[in-house]
Amino acid sequence: MNPTKARKVRKAVIPAAGLGTRFLPATKAIAKEMLPIVDKPTIQFIVEEALKSGIEDILIVTGKAKRPIEDHFDSNIELEQNLREKGKTELLKLVEETTDINLHFIRQSHPKGLGHAVLQAKAFVGNEPFVVMLGDDLMDINGNGTPLTKQLINDYEKTHASTIAVMKVPHEDVDKYGVIDPKGEVSKGLYNVERFVEKPEISEAPSDLAIIGRYLLTPEIFDVLETQAPGAGNEIQLTDAIERLNKTQRVFAHEFTGKRYDVGDKFGFVETTIEYGLEHPQISESLKAYLIEKGKELEKAAASTPHKIEK
Ligand code: G1P
Repeated sequence: MNPTKARKVRKAVIPAAGLGTRFLPATKAIAKEMLPIVDKPTIQFIVEEALKSGIEDILIVTGKAKRPIEDHFDSNIELEQNLREKGKTELLKLVEETTDINLHFIRQSHPKGLGHAVLQAKAFVGNEPFVVMLGDDLMDINGNGTPLTKQLINDYEKTHASTIAVMKVPHEDVDKYGVIDPKGEVSKGLYNVERFVEKPEISEAPSDLAIIGRYLLTPEIFDVLETQAPGAGNEIQLTDAIERLNKTQRVFAHEFTGKRYDVGDKFGFVETTIEYGLEHPQISESLKAYLIEKGKELEKAAASTPHKIEK
């Protein structure tokens, strides 16, 4: 296989075919990607990160309940007319800004794993480098700094190689992630990788550097995915395919040092909602006041709870 020469990174793939079982019953009829952080569906944060990173075409790989995602990024003539007539220009702007994005959809009919979902993008991507963006991981929700996807693209422009975003996670959590075995830094925060391993046992994890949901991949990944056997959880794992790709061309890891929000987790979802709410012009002041009051109340309750007597 010949590594692709550096080409402009124009395409993004967003897998959104998961069953969302961690958010049942909310996700019984709607895709988890449509659950809002205050007033914005989580998938919109991902799409915005892609656009801010210079991505021109986005493929969303959906499973069930894809209609609301498609409709969200389509125009809603009736609603727009109504808002226009009522002079609600700010709301109209919000509704209109999610249209006119080059979005494409494909359905993954069998949920066989993340690697299999990415393989569905083969025809869309063609022979170009591309990014994969996972919907459960939101980075930099308030839009400060260089988006992580753009950071990966900047790396690619220098190395012409696949680059996977990683981040230090608490050691006791490594079995929830793909984990890398770093083999020295080539420049600050950019690692050569000896091994990529999906969901290792905590005692066997090669490091605490976990794969977070942003990948820049060369198109050779598809050749590998086509013959990828199921791995952890009996699913076709993207990490396993990356591990094999790394044997034929260099794959780097880029350490992210910003804030990551795990909206695929109940606590992470609530935390993200609070943090985004604290920056939200309409509710920031009242939310701050509420949290201060609630904090006092909780502290008082904790102080009056009798302590356990240690024996
Ligand atoms: C997926 C990937 C895993 C990665 C994680 C990041 O796992 O398979 O390598 O570390 O996303 O969020 P999932 O969370 O879908 O089980």
